Amino acid sequence: MQKLIITGKRELKGKISISGSKNASLPILAACVFSNKAKIKNIPLVKDIFTMIELLEFIGLKIKIFKKQNSLEIINNERKINTLAPYRLVKTMRAGVLVLGSLLTKYGKAKVSLPGGCAIGTRPVDLHLFALKKLGAKIKIKNGYIIAEAKKGLKGAVIKFPSISVGATENAILAAFNAKGKTIIKNCAVEPEIKELIIFLKKLGANITLSGRTITIIENLQKVSEINHDIMFDRIEAGTYIIASALIGKKVLIDKINPKILKKELEILKKVGVKIKKNRSSLLILENKKFKKINIVTKPYPGFPTDLQAQLMVLLTQADGVSKIKEEIFENRFMHVPELKRMGAKIKIKNKTAYIEGPTNLTGAEVMATDLRASVSLVLAGLVAENRTLINRIYHLDRGYEALENKLNACNVKIKRI
Ligand code: UD1
Repeated sequence: MQKLIITGKRELKGKISISGSKNASLPILAACVFSNKAKIKNIPLVKDIFTMIELLEFIGLKIKIFKKQNSLEIINNERKINTLAPYRLVKTMRAGVLVLGSLLTKYGKAKVSLPGGCAIGTRPVDLHLFALKKLGAKIKIKNGYIIAEAKKGLKGAVIKFPSISVGATENAILAAFNAKGKTIIKNCAVEPEIKELIIFLKKLGANITLSGRTITIIENLQKVSEINHDIMFDRIEAGTYIIASALIGKKVLIDKINPKILKKELEILKKVGVKIKKNRSSLLILENKKFKKINIVTKPYPGFPTDLQAQLMVLLTQADGVSKIKEEIFENRFMHVPELKRMGAKIKIKNKTAYIEGPTNLTGAEVMATDLRASVSLVLAGLVAENRTLINRIYHLDRGYEALENKLNACNVKIKRI
């Protein structure tokens, strides 16, 4: 099993280019079922994307990967389509469940494995199924699979989500793309990745509008079969490297981003004391010596993202006083805490809130990665800690961070994979 060894307290300097967004790519790949030929650029070549590619190939799409260009060509020639997403592919990557909406609406049926729980929480799919049922799908759960049918196609409807879910909103949009009539999705998620899916579907001829937390989709009559798309930057990767730069940086340029999309994150980081100079498509993170405590609550966009909670916590171990982070999205997303404590962090958890006392001198240790974002928080802790940190189970990191070691090593950091 691969591990990472990090030599702490090195100075980060130079430029880090941010990759395309994994979470924007996944629903867009699920939407490629609708086009005959799609060219997708700025795809991050991470494990979750390869799993999605494998799933689309299993379904019957033909995919060419151009690794050097970070692009894909996806062809659906409508031959030998298999409307099945098997357990082995969905269990390692929950976003596989997104093909449920696109397959069902296009082919009238889909059988998709239930993803099951994962380390950060139970993560049910009831809201996904709620939306599809509203659109007229008949749904059964059998032998661990969701079996969905809409023999005469799906029909537009009003879907009002009882709570906000990114994945359920995406599945509802995908399903409504090919439904007859008009669909209104209320109380939807409005993450930038949702807006990116809307842009992609518009290029495919969809008539979709987003206003506040309501999406309106009118029956798609004008079908476009070939499409080109450039994936937006990964805002969580960007946030992670901004925090790395705040911790040990001496002038780091975070490049290939759109700072407007990071409004909340930058607001919070500035409050903590991170010195940031904004440019049009990059950010310059200046050297920081002292940080201030803060209280935050993770929320759906435009709130502070749960996917940056673990990374922010590492920064707060270096802040003066006791900071509070309340995790409102997932019930079990503090698994990095015991590992950070092994490195000397002073953190207490009470109900959904972590109390982080700082500043603390972190020291390198052997630690265990438990999920994607928790893993990268241990990398950040390793960067700022004294001596060496050894991170086990780094396959979690490979699911979502493209070329992490290369990007950091190119900026004077020492990380080695063994
Ligand atoms: C997506 C992101 C993930 C991020 C999360 C929240 C992708 C591939 N993943 O995950 O990185 O952390 O958004 O921003 O884009 N819920 C239900 N029933 C459902 C669906 C969700 O109760 O049917 C709950 C979840 O358990 C969770 C909350 O809703 O407590 C939000 O989850 P959701 O927004 O659906 O997250 P994902 O789409 O799985």
